[in-house]
Amino acid sequence: MLLHLMTWTEVEEYLKVSQGIILPIGSTEQHGQTGLIGTDTICAEGIARGVGEMTNTVVAPTINVGMALHQAAFPGAIALRPNTLIELIQDYLTSLARAGFTKFFFVNGYGGNVATLRAAFAESYSYLTDLHIPNAEKVECRIANWFTCNSVYKLAKELYGSLEGYQAAPGEVAVTQYFYPEIISKMPVMAEVGLPYPVYSTTRFRDRYSHRGRGYDPAMATPEDGKIFYDLAVQELSEVYLEFIHSAAA
Ligand code: NI
Repeated sequence: MLLHLMTWTEVEEYLKVSQGIILPIGSTEQHGQTGLIGTDTICAEGIARGVGEMTNTVVAPTINVGMALHQAAFPGAIALRPNTLIELIQDYLTSLARAGFTKFFFVNGYGGNVATLRAAFAESYSYLTDLHIPNAEKVECRIANWFTCNSVYKLAKELYGSLEGYQAAPGEVAVTQYFYPEIISKMPVMAEVGLPYPVYSTTRFRDRYSHRGRGYDPAMATPEDGKIFYDLAVQELSEVYLEFIHSAAA
């Protein structure tokens, strides 16, 4: 069930049965010369929708931009400042909590969002209580990174070893190839696989990674592997979601 394809009366009926909702969140940023700018969003949205189908849960509109300030020197990046992302999450949660949702399960496709999401949750728990929204004390948020699922991580290490990398990794590139097989033909092979390097200024980041990968080799990706990653992530995150939704608020 996709929220944007439901009517408000259907949402009202759903809330009588469940107060859980899945929120995909990704990013819009470079993924090397071979990966799509929407890689993190495509993975999060597709996997979140799979979890929604498997668990009969509403999936909210995808948050397709993230905290990607260090990517700003690459054309095509759209980066939210941490404060903007915190306020966006807070407004999402406030709107949905007013309607009666209390369990918020963020299927995340981008490691750079994690710290800001945690800050947003801390602010929102306090904010919702101050607003005296009914059930505010029952609100719980969970981050579910598809790429750190045990089953996904294990397979990525088996397939790619140390070349799974940190960004535009073959695992996430494989998932985008599964969803959009027509993109494979435009993906050149990277000339050089670089080592991971700390993030500093936007220009230093671009200089470092314009012509080499960030500890990865996306040329190892295949759409067949992407389908396996998708199935593993949907299965594991569905189990995590069901455990989350059935856990009583402490
Ligand atoms: Ni990514």
